[in-house]
Amino acid sequence: MKRKKIVLGVCASIAAYRACDIINTLKKQNIDVVVCLTKDAKHFITPLTLQTLSGERVFIDMFKPIKEWDPLHISLAKQADLILVAPSSADIISKVASGACNDLLSCTIASTEAPVLFAPAMNNIMYKNKIVQENISKLKKMGYEFVGPEKGHLACGTKAIGHIADTDDIVRQVKSLLKK
Ligand SMILES: Cc1cc2nc3c(=O)[nH]c(=O)nc-3n(C[C@H](O)[C@H](O)[C@H](O)COP(=O)(O)O)c2cc1C
Repeated sequence: MKRKKIVLGVCASIAAYRACDIINTLKKQNIDVVVCLTKDAKHFITPLTLQTLSGERVFIDMFKPIKEWDPLHISLAKQADLILVAPSSADIISKVASGACNDLLSCTIASTEAPVLFAPAMNNIMYKNKIVQENISKLKKMGYEFVGPEKGHLACGTKAIGHIADTDDIVRQVKSLLKK
């Protein structure tokens, strides 16, 4: 059977470090992972770490010269059996909900026919923000998938909703979507 490939979008959240655990767990299940890191996410995790764990080049900039004819976002969108965005920021959720395409990750999501799974992570008040909630509802209605967030210890010191889902729950949902 053909190996499955996930494009893993990593956003600028304190939870970006969890991408490491997610990559390791997916790879143990024989799922290939190509990372698309947002520019701001580089403040939280290095491309070197993600490149080393995934065993693949990490993509950040869609305007860099490429060898293939396809623009990078089209190439990534075509390769993906599924796009997982973990952690998903409020920003990427808002971009996708509004149709904005102004970076590699938002353009890749807009250009794919593969399922897209968001694993949001953010401050509880940010998560409960009406615009964020409306964006999530809109995306769910359109067929985008979500896992978490959960109640847990947040970086701001409170225990509340906004904590990224457990790696096992994320990977379970990835595998179930890949079977469809
Ligand atoms: C220390 C710090 C932690 C942050 N954590 C989060 C977070 O967990 N979730 C979130 O949606 N935004 C968070 N932000 C805000 C995002 O980093 C910001 O909106 C960024 O522009 C999102 O970029 P991206 O969606 O392109 O990755 C945080 C910002 C800082 C400075």
